[in-house]
Amino acid sequence: MANWSAGQYLKFEDERTRPPRDLLAQVPLQQPRLAVDLGCGPGNSTALLVERYPQAEIVGLDSSADMLEKARERVPQCKFIAADIATWTPLPRTDLVFANAALHWIPDHPLMMRRLVEALPAGGVLAVQMPDNTREPALVLQREVAASGPWANDPQIKAAARADLPSPETYYDLLRPVCAQLDIWHTVYHHVMPTPQAIVEWFKGSSLQPFLSPLDAAAREEFLAAYTEKIVGSYRPRVDGKVLLRFPRLFIVAVR
Ligand SMILES: C[S@@+](CC[C@H](N)C(=O)[O-])C[C@H]1O[C@@H](n2cnc3c(N)ncnc32)[C@H](O)[C@@H]1O
Repeated sequence: MANWSAGQYLKFEDERTRPPRDLLAQVPLQQPRLAVDLGCGPGNSTALLVERYPQAEIVGLDSSADMLEKARERVPQCKFIAADIATWTPLPRTDLVFANAALHWIPDHPLMMRRLVEALPAGGVLAVQMPDNTREPALVLQREVAASGPWANDPQIKAAARADLPSPETYYDLLRPVCAQLDIWHTVYHHVMPTPQAIVEWFKGSSLQPFLSPLDAAAREEFLAAYTEKIVGSYRPRVDGKVLLRFPRLFIVAVR
């Protein structure tokens, strides 16, 4: 498991909190009894749940101590638990399982999503957003750097790249038999970044972590320098000197 840092993740808080807002806007629940924020991170998505459902019991779950500490400071009225999403099961009164930018890290997550939906009460909702950006230059270049440096044969580096997400049809066929309603869509964001280097900073808070965590400090610097050079070559300045980070994301709202 990568070493998640709340500080690094929150450098782009506004941009990172827009997808969970867009996801929550499509959740067809008025008054959930218990809502659980899986992979709550520093509590940015949990705070959205509190804002929309002030009467609900809201619980955040994460495996990172650093993230949980920030989340507890930020949303002290909620309960936060350290646990592994992969082995977690909802309590019977759980009306909403919200998982923004978290499930794509879990092996076999499509089957896990089906198990989660099956465990919900009738009308309960599983709402999921996952980055669908493995074919974007920023992630392709991570794999290129990983395959070409002195670390190329390190088994942890070889295993660091995330697999492509399955197709919407795959999720539909798996989830539809256990759902009353199923809504699947993509949104492509074009985040305005001040410089290409900011794109490197962005991914240091997410998909670069599995590549950087196994390396010592010197190798980490070398990896980042090689990656930055490639990013500068791929993300060209726009009319105002800024660069656009194209970021496709997959959304799924499944109602039991
Ligand atoms: C990209 S952050 C998402 C944070 C927040 N939900 C948001 O909307 O911005 C992903 C979070 O999932 C957590 N995570 C990843 N794998 C996990 C697992 N197996 N069990 C629990 N938490 C996990 C990480 O620690 C991290 O805080």
